Amino acid sequence: MRTIVVLPGDGIGKVVLPESIRLLDAAGFKADYVWGDIGWDFWCKEGNALPQRTIDLIAKHKIALFGAITSKPKDAAEKELDPELKGKGYVYFSPIVSLRQHFNLDICIRPCLSFKGNPLNFIRKSASGGFEEPIVNTVIFRQNTEGLYSGVEWTNPPKVVRDAFETHPKMKTFKNVPSEELAISSRIVTKKASERIIRAAFEHAKKFGYKNLTLCEKPNVLRETSGMMFKIAKEIAKEYPNIALWDTNIDAQMMWLTKNPEDYGVIVAENMFGDIISDGFAGLIGGLGFACSANIGEEVAVFEPTHGSAPKYEKLNPSIVNPIAMFMSACMMLDHIGEKEISNKIRKAIASVVEEGKVKTYDMLKLRGGADVFGKGAASTNQMTDAVISKL
Ligand code: NAI
Ligand code: MG
Repeated sequence: MRTIVVLPGDGIGKVVLPESIRLLDAAGFKADYVWGDIGWDFWCKEGNALPQRTIDLIAKHKIALFGAITSKPKDAAEKELDPELKGKGYVYFSPIVSLRQHFNLDICIRPCLSFKGNPLNFIRKSASGGFEEPIVNTVIFRQNTEGLYSGVEWTNPPKVVRDAFETHPKMKTFKNVPSEELAISSRIVTKKASERIIRAAFEHAKKFGYKNLTLCEKPNVLRETSGMMFKIAKEIAKEYPNIALWDTNIDAQMMWLTKNPEDYGVIVAENMFGDIISDGFAGLIGGLGFACSANIGEEVAVFEPTHGSAPKYEKLNPSIVNPIAMFMSACMMLDHIGEKEISNKIRKAIASVVEEGKVKTYDMLKLRGGADVFGKGAASTNQMTDAVISKL
């Protein structure tokens, strides 16, 4: 039997993750689950939010389902550390970022699929005066490890760095800026990672029948980094004659986001542009209660909702949060390991609950979250899971 590492983490991660296991069981998915330690409690008790034993578990079993973690600024983190550990050099790192780096989870997939009847779906005015609701079915492939988030940056760059930059003719503009008044972040793109994500995106388009793949970059300005990605995309596209390669600039894409989102199939972008465009598309399909994701490396894959631990709601019992983002992430895991029949069954069940419209969590009713949402007709997290299970 397959073993899945489950990492609930903090806050509502501890709520939605067990609910997704309950759903997977009900849908007939057979697996052994091993629970891994990750998150704030382990930072406080051990000075490490991602203990080595958890890394070992993931390395062994390769597939993990992850809930959410709480991150806090450096000072706040230091304050909550066990008094015995204070002043011993422990530094807080976000465990999900550490996971992505440790296992080189360079391909981030964020599908944005609108469910019919979701009151949070984007609508726009039609030319005839009424309203129309475009069906969004776009999958964003975000390069997860490099680009503008590669972390190579300086305020007051050391002299060797400054000197190296001065060799570029465009640095003339900044010649008279004192180094202390200069901050530099670098956008680093490699051929290997670009090829990996662009190929993965084409493969996804082929497997799931998308007709177009858009490279969303800015090659007219970012000639080197976007330029390299564009060249690679054109080359790889030759192997996929049935998928049209489109290219858009990130700024224009944000405009087209609301003009014609239904036209886009698969979109590929560098880390920061992918971050931006995937949040944009997620907003069209219901936001954090619906947005799922996968982080895929050469060996390991981690599946997670894009939301965080929502500390505001972690103490509410029964819980009010929407588990659908977590369920959709579990479906991505099923697709990844070849259990498409079960994932389709779960997606259909979710679609049918949403379309029927009888069971809605507070976000779907556009309520402000709190214990009083039940009196206003909202379903609890549990009730939403029950509703989906009843439709399987
Ligand atoms: P968040 O995603 O936890 O919550 C933002 C707001 O979105 C919530 O207050 C709630 O109104 C709504 N929301 C989130 N999930 C929802 C759900 N399933 N159903 C209904 N509504 C939902 O982001 P926030 O408040 O910025 O961060 C809270 C903590 O989570 C921080 O410590 C942050 O560092 C961490 N975080 C962790 C992430 C991860 O584990 N990958 C991602 C984002 C934030
Ligand atoms: Mg983001």
